[in-house]
Amino acid sequence: MRVFALSDIHVDHEANNAWIARLSNSEFQEDTLLLAGDVTHDLSLLRATFEILLSKFKNLFFVPGNHDLWVMPGSDSNSLQKFKDIVEICERLNVKTQPEYVGTNSGKVWIVPLFSWYTRPEEGVDSLYLPKDKDNASLDMWSDNYLIQWPDTAIGKINDYFLQLNEKHLSISCDGHIISFSHFLPRSDIIISTADESKIFKWPHRNERFNFTRVAGSKLLDAQIRRLGSSIHVYGHQHRNRHRHLDGVCYISCCLGYEEERLNGEISPDILLPKEIWNDSVESLLVGE
Ligand SMILES: [Fe+2]
Repeated sequence: MRVFALSDIHVDHEANNAWIARLSNSEFQEDTLLLAGDVTHDLSLLRATFEILLSKFKNLFFVPGNHDLWVMPGSDSNSLQKFKDIVEICERLNVKTQPEYVGTNSGKVWIVPLFSWYTRPEEGVDSLYLPKDKDNASLDMWSDNYLIQWPDTAIGKINDYFLQLNEKHLSISCDGHIISFSHFLPRSDIIISTADESKIFKWPHRNERFNFTRVAGSKLLDAQIRRLGSSIHVYGHQHRNRHRHLDGVCYISCCLGYEEERLNGEISPDILLPKEIWNDSVESLLVGE
């Protein structure tokens, strides 16, 4: 059995839908896919995508991303209700959103999904914010500003709400490895490519006033990853793929992203498969750079 990482498949884009459809129907039948959020805001398309992936993989794990929780104008739902609806869809289809020990007699590994959100710089010191020239603090180009709707009744800081849901899973103890995954980023040093470190505050983006670090994730998520004792943490959200060893944890992202990002080189243009991160026939983790 192998474990694969993938995120940000955005299947409302036809090229991405076709990419998913092209994945082998036979090659992954014994394998596990960690799908780290941002599939679609459309629940019927989300359900259909789960069904396709369930037909290709033995196990499918999922955590929702921000795009999945978008609420379209005129809807009487909200993003928290949508989160609960998605978890219920997952339960019905046997898409796993809770920890599970997977593998075969030759090797097993704990998979731990971690729910999360991002903390903006004005919301808390756990924000992953890094300053940037010409930064537009209002984030008026960020779709979540319009399409993420939390309920009126106060639920506190939304990231705290999601992280609290993980607490009961953080005491898993095992001799083997733990692989956790989230949609959002757990630390700011994985935002920047090592190739770009000399231009740390000038990472490319189509909108130069957009500062992704305002909405990237939370340091509190990394604290949970360390309490859990993860060997590998898979994440998504940024649409920039990384593979970095930091303080004993291997951080990996394998975002499909948008076709435009693949064509212009922001994401590997030749991405053909989810990224293999664990294999029960190999004694060590597949963590080489
Ligand atoms: Fe995202």
